[in-house]
Amino acid sequence: MSASVITLETHEDLSHKLIIQQPTSGLSLQGRIRVPGDKSISHRALMLGALAQGETQIQGLLLGEDPRSTAGCFQAMGAEISELNTELVRVKGIGLGNLQEPGDVLNAGNSGTTLRLMLGILASHPGRFFTVTGDSSLRSRPMSRVVKPLQQMGALIWGRKDNSLAPLAIQGQALKPIHYNSPIASAQVKSCILLAGLMTAGQTTVTEPALSRDHSERMLRAFGAELSIDPETNRVTITGPAQLHGQSVIVPGDISSAAFWLVAGAIVPSSDLLIENVGVNPTRTGILEALSLMGADIQLENQREVAGEPVADLRVRHSRLQSCTLAGDIIPRLIDEIPILAVAAVFATGTTVIRDAEELRVKESDRIAVMAQQLNKMGAKVSELPDGMEITGGTPLVGTDVDSHTDHRIAMSLAIAALVSQGITTIHRAEAAAISYPNFTATLQQICS
Ligand code: S3P
Repeated sequence: MSASVITLETHEDLSHKLIIQQPTSGLSLQGRIRVPGDKSISHRALMLGALAQGETQIQGLLLGEDPRSTAGCFQAMGAEISELNTELVRVKGIGLGNLQEPGDVLNAGNSGTTLRLMLGILASHPGRFFTVTGDSSLRSRPMSRVVKPLQQMGALIWGRKDNSLAPLAIQGQALKPIHYNSPIASAQVKSCILLAGLMTAGQTTVTEPALSRDHSERMLRAFGAELSIDPETNRVTITGPAQLHGQSVIVPGDISSAAFWLVAGAIVPSSDLLIENVGVNPTRTGILEALSLMGADIQLENQREVAGEPVADLRVRHSRLQSCTLAGDIIPRLIDEIPILAVAAVFATGTTVIRDAEELRVKESDRIAVMAQQLNKMGAKVSELPDGMEITGGTPLVGTDVDSHTDHRIAMSLAIAALVSQGITTIHRAEAAAISYPNFTATLQQICS
């Protein structure tokens, strides 16, 4: 085995070019790795820690740019958050209802989770005025999905395009409880409403059409909120006003980050990788089910529960993959993994069909269009569907210039595709990976050496 050559060039404008060259004699991926902390859990730990009474201690926080945006916003509203690190972050909560009016615009950067969850918190803080914005990607993403239910609760929110685009201005109010039937299975929508319900007297309920990730429900309960959950109807009710108490949170590794190595191990011949300490909450494990349908060899070892979340070590070995069809209720359970699943499908025999995933069009980029364009540039056969993709596997990929469109999951998915592409692949704007996976290139270099 000879190593593939992986180089990272940093340009004056701070953009990165990730250059991956296939070795002339085969590559295989070996080793034991850890992925950074779960992004969804990291955001929630910082937010609930800021709203709680007393101190919250967070171990394993993701040091990506998205949680940094959350920390920055809550610091600007009075929460004391120690320097961010993976060992131990201390959050001195200021108690529910005590957020200070910030003297400047709150900036959520690239993070939809920061902005959408925070809107529920801000809208329910009476007597304070807030303005929120984000980067150009976030400013083009739809906020009406959270603004509309919050308005039904009595929230006052203004923004462009009928109050649907950031920058947004919020005049905090005492809200009234509602029962919201969400048209989409979205943890951001569900969490926004539950967080608004924290300060709202009475019972605030959200019903979603399929179950989305339930980290908010788990953590709200652990912090002391009263929640009732009906799994038959995907209905969650929070009783307010609540009182939250600081907790100790241990953030497991992010299965969405592990997904890149699961697919890399499955498609690179002779590979054998152990990914330690990965969160395997059942609302997130659609990727394991999809890869298993495709014939991947993945084993869950050392399964345990850590601070209210299931965790395991994942072992992946190379195997031949076959196509599959993904649609319906599994989609919210693997929504962030579809770009890397598209890469797996390129190396599978047959035609993989992904449907019911129109949400991908309003993520950090239009992930359906961008993945189809970029993989097709490398020689793949991917066609766009309005709500998904059709991918015919088996055509060898050839390295070329591709672009992340500043979307972290696209940058990393293309890097994994490059490992099995002939010649040299150059991924432009690869710095986007730092949104959720700051050490991605270093780990790539480690397992390829
Ligand atoms: C997230 C929910 C999902 C996911 C995002 C993180 C969360 O978004 O795609 O990366 O932490 O709640 P939607 O709620 O829009 O599906």
